[in-house]
Amino acid sequence: MRILGIETSCDETSAAVVEETGDAAKPWAIRSNEVASQVPIHREWGGVVPELASRQHIRDICGIVERALDEADTRWSDLGAIAVTQGPGLVGSLLVGVSFAKAAAAAANLPLVAVHHLAGHIESLVLQNGEMPLPAVVLVVSGGHTSLYLVDRPGCYALLSRTRDDAAGEAYDKVAKLLGLGYPGGPVIDRLAKQGNDRAVPLPTTRLTHADRNAPQLKGDLDFSFSGLKTAVLRHVRAHPDPFTESEIADIASSFQRIVVTVLIDRLFDAARRYGAKSVGVAGGVSANSRLRAELHAKGEARETPTFLPSLKLSTDNAAMIAAAGLRKFRAGVTSPLDINADAALAL
Ligand code: KG4
Ligand code: ZN
Repeated sequence: MRILGIETSCDETSAAVVEETGDAAKPWAIRSNEVASQVPIHREWGGVVPELASRQHIRDICGIVERALDEADTRWSDLGAIAVTQGPGLVGSLLVGVSFAKAAAAAANLPLVAVHHLAGHIESLVLQNGEMPLPAVVLVVSGGHTSLYLVDRPGCYALLSRTRDDAAGEAYDKVAKLLGLGYPGGPVIDRLAKQGNDRAVPLPTTRLTHADRNAPQLKGDLDFSFSGLKTAVLRHVRAHPDPFTESEIADIASSFQRIVVTVLIDRLFDAARRYGAKSVGVAGGVSANSRLRAELHAKGEARETPTFLPSLKLSTDNAAMIAAAGLRKFRAGVTSPLDINADAALAL
């Protein structure tokens, strides 16, 4: 069976066709994965402008879906279902994909499958590498999220912890902005960090030990916090009267990146040990980070735990991962009625 996936939760308009392989170990294959990025539009403003994002999704969605079908050599009648990101994300952006998917499902008489964006990021690991040994602990780390999930059965995602304030990608973007490096911040900090000294600037690590009053069901000691780190960089910048040299900027980037990556990897492997994980994974835009990828492999080898990462294309927002998560749900017998709405704060 083939499924059409649609993703418009933030600033990428994407459509993809994913097909079942019949191989239980590597269940899905990508036939197409078209992404129209809006980064050049938002770069001018230093971050995503929601109204501009939804307007651009409206311009792009029809063409992107047609391209995804063409590229996959697939007609509407070859499809078995349509999967779409229902949330979380920017509501105006989500609405474009959800409305399109509902209309297409009604017109082509196909079942609709509403997908949680983070389920898509988690399933990007399986789409890329095949099924993970379970139980697995997966870190989803992007511009909007930094969360640890326990996957003990295929398609079941239990939240273990999340950030109390900024997401890791958001911290990258804010630090890049205050260093005058532009948007998005992750790739440029990642590149500059390689030339810097990662111990040059003393920056704090936050270790939370108490439960979050807003989420008493979580223990809280695996939670993340990045706003203090961002503020420490801000103070360092303000305390410096002259403009930074290139090598000073590289040192800040490198020191910042060392702390972020260390915190992410430490919490991931703490959780893996606590829950007896047979594998670990990292997904989401920040999983493109070179230091994070290298440290994940190194620590996985040291702990003899298999590690999973998406390809760079599957790490940032794309519809193939939504199609994969949609296939997982569809095969579990779950479809969605045509009166679903976009949900900016959808829970997983
Ligand atoms: O998953 P994604 O495309 O969108 C969200 O759902 O947020 O993630 C985008 C985030 C941005 O904050 C960007 O700065 C970050 O991923 N990012 C990186 C790198 N590439 C992208 N962060 C660190 N290192 C990178 N190489
Ligand atoms: Zn995302």
